[in-house]
Amino acid sequence: MKNAAVIGAGTIGLSWTALFASHGLTVRVTDPRPDLADAVSQALAQFAPHLGSTAEELAGRVHIAADVTEAVRDADVVQENGPENAEFKKDLFRQLVEQAPQHALLLSSSSAIPSTAFTGGIDGRRVLIGHPFNPPHLIPLVEVVPGEQTSDESVQKAVDFYTSLGRTPVVERKEIPGFVGNRLQNALSREAIYLVEQGVVTPEDLDKVITSSLGIRWATVGPFLGSHLGGGPGGYRHMAEHIGKSMKQMWAGLGTPSQGPEEQEQLIEAVEKAYGSSTYSELAETRDRKQLAVLNALEEN
Ligand SMILES: NC(=O)c1ccc[n+]([C@@H]2O[C@H](COP(=O)([O-])OP(=O)(O)OC[C@H]3O[C@@H](n4cnc5c(N)ncnc54)[C@H](O)[C@@H]3O)[C@@H](O)[C@H]2O)c1
Repeated sequence: MKNAAVIGAGTIGLSWTALFASHGLTVRVTDPRPDLADAVSQALAQFAPHLGSTAEELAGRVHIAADVTEAVRDADVVQENGPENAEFKKDLFRQLVEQAPQHALLLSSSSAIPSTAFTGGIDGRRVLIGHPFNPPHLIPLVEVVPGEQTSDESVQKAVDFYTSLGRTPVVERKEIPGFVGNRLQNALSREAIYLVEQGVVTPEDLDKVITSSLGIRWATVGPFLGSHLGGGPGGYRHMAEHIGKSMKQMWAGLGTPSQGPEEQEQLIEAVEKAYGSSTYSELAETRDRKQLAVLNALEEN
């Protein structure tokens, strides 16, 4: 893979652009946003230090393309990051299949829409999901999700591609809306919103509960290994037969937030009150610095 096309340069597309360029790929980026060139140069300047690179080095490999046709002309791989909308993706992937070189791998960053939902009526053998977690230049996971038409060769090429970028690809065996990562995230978010709505905690304290407990644990062990260890020497079996019983009883009492317009507005205001005194750049910079420190610590251990 030498030439990459990035379609859609919002939060995710800009981060992929920096990652691809930092691994020596030539990147052609397109997006109808009028500030595209500025957004790309700002992102490269912001992300380059995280990637052990300089903004100039990255910028030398990144080109603005006037449209999709120009962006994909020489592409070996296309990463789509446009609006999360099946109709948009349907039209775009039809164009990609027609216009990208025959060998090009066609990947969508979609957070929740399986590719089978937007490849009906087109040749989808080289189309599949490569779903990152924000920001993809830092967070290693990429969920690789083949659609009904995706060839095994394309799945392998996607795994090899993301591995070559230092990512951790996980191939999922069945399509399901939201894939695995966002379903897990959503299960937790639903309960988080419910707890705040019920007045059990403030948004800020809920975040503190996660970052000072589950967040740290889950950077090192997943829920199953965590439970296996939580069971002590008796392992997962002891956990399931002992504390597991009361955990299971809790399932029936997990909440569903009401989230009508009024409750949603109250929650938005509460989150803004908690974090609104800092700018987006300040918050993102602090997050990136801490996440980088965690990643470096994990690499050393
Ligand atoms: N934000 C996240 O945390 C996250 C994480 C993983 C995956 N995703 C997925 O990545 C994709 C992009 O999400 P985002 O958060 O970067 O959204 P975003 O709104 O920040 O960016 C979307 C970009 O698409 C551009 N766009 C609109 N029409 C276009 C067109 N015709 N051609 C090219 N670009 C066009 C917009 O101008 C915008 O810059 C979505 O499918 C989303 O589900 C998002």
